[in-house]
Amino acid sequence: MNMDMLLFELEKDGGKPLYDQLYSGIKEAIITKKIAVGEKLPSKRKLADFLNISQTTIEIAYAQLLAEGYIMSKSRVGYFVEEIDDLPYIQPDTTAFINEQPKKKSFNIDFNPGSIDIDAFPFQTWRKYARDLFDDASKELLLTGEPQGEPALRTEIANYLYQSRGVVCSPEQIVIGSGTEQLLPMILRLFSEDTCFALENPGYPTVHRMFSQYKRKVLPIAVDDEGIVIHALEKTSADVVYITPSHQFPTGAVLSATRRAQALNWAAQSPSRYIIEDDYDSEFRYTGKPIPALQALDRNDKVIYMSTFTKSLMPSLRVAYFVLPPKLLATYNDVFNYYSSTVPRFDQHIVANFMRDGHFSKHLNRMRKVYRKKHDKLTTILENYSSQVKMTGEQAGMHVLLNVQHPLSEQQLQQHANNAGIGIYPLSDYRLDGLLSTQVQFLLGFGGIPVHQIEASIERLMDCWNIPKITLMADNH
Ligand SMILES: Cc1ncc(COP(=O)(O)O)c(C=O)c1O
Repeated sequence: MNMDMLLFELEKDGGKPLYDQLYSGIKEAIITKKIAVGEKLPSKRKLADFLNISQTTIEIAYAQLLAEGYIMSKSRVGYFVEEIDDLPYIQPDTTAFINEQPKKKSFNIDFNPGSIDIDAFPFQTWRKYARDLFDDASKELLLTGEPQGEPALRTEIANYLYQSRGVVCSPEQIVIGSGTEQLLPMILRLFSEDTCFALENPGYPTVHRMFSQYKRKVLPIAVDDEGIVIHALEKTSADVVYITPSHQFPTGAVLSATRRAQALNWAAQSPSRYIIEDDYDSEFRYTGKPIPALQALDRNDKVIYMSTFTKSLMPSLRVAYFVLPPKLLATYNDVFNYYSSTVPRFDQHIVANFMRDGHFSKHLNRMRKVYRKKHDKLTTILENYSSQVKMTGEQAGMHVLLNVQHPLSEQQLQQHANNAGIGIYPLSDYRLDGLLSTQVQFLLGFGGIPVHQIEASIERLMDCWNIPKITLMADNH
């Protein structure tokens, strides 16, 4: 071959090593067919002389081309260009990709029900546990751990669940994963593909989306102020029902004692029936005594209990868990024993040690006070607008439901709020059947709003909705 073809502009002082420049140049010439298939490459010595570089540089470049299959070597004869399949060289259109990224709306005031308080996190303590773990003494944690999660964390979770939620389980029944949204698909796979799932309507949209993506049969079941309507569930062919008894998402209803009994009786009537109990924000309850989990009342091993550290620690941690009834544990072991845990072992041990030394309980007590303050402030301020605005679902969690008397629709009111830089979330967005509600209702998350900003935030919202403050009787005295 004519060696001029290999007369590359090698930048001797460039950032890229010479062998790499040479390798890229020859590869490009082969791909673009400037050098034909079967053509013999110059010997290392000749090319080294021609390009005025060392033979070693040529040797490394040829070795790389050989390893990647661009050239072949014939003993004592030399190197030849290989036949390669045409590769689809498509220049990625990065601008198109960037444009397609959904933009997260940002508001000056955001009543997002998923936000938590970020001002009271015990960084110092957390940092101590993280620092202590990243040490030679924990080098074994560099290796893969148990698929169900670290026994140390499962033990802490089992203790916590027993003490605070009345859930009786052993660490062996617990599976840890990176969020409810990663764990639910695992639960789905414990049931046959023709299993029919019932979901609360309105409900948690992530769950609905996920069940549909996995092509499972889904039935929406109505929710009222006592939680999911079990009589409606009884009339369906559903086998498994997903519910949020402690604080229905999104209405905030607490499942009444009668409904709890009805739900467990429904499940007990057939071996194929199960209840998935999502206890996502049960740590925060503002009225009455704590209500134990539904799992705690179950005598027939019919409840798959699940919860998360998203509200109690932070959403970015991505740690949640489920507790399987013993019967389903065997199925789980058959299906999932080949997979590794989705949560890094170091993170699991940070949480476990934090719990073991009592910091989780301390943090929860502190956060209960923080959220109660915010909750009480919110409810007091909202009373000023009670002629047009009623609040429900305020017994627990980090959001309430606002029922608004207004001539404008939910969508129009949302638009007014968004235009004023306020994020507010219509209940219709959480309906699984896509029907618009006849009432005007919004989710109002208060977890992420600093307590001193609650009054001004509500005032701005009411101003942009043209809802006047009422004069309370107490003001006249
Ligand atoms: C009903 C419900 N379940 C679970 C979660 C938490 O999900 P994850 O553990 O994936 O963060 C949320 C979060 O807002 C929720 O609303």
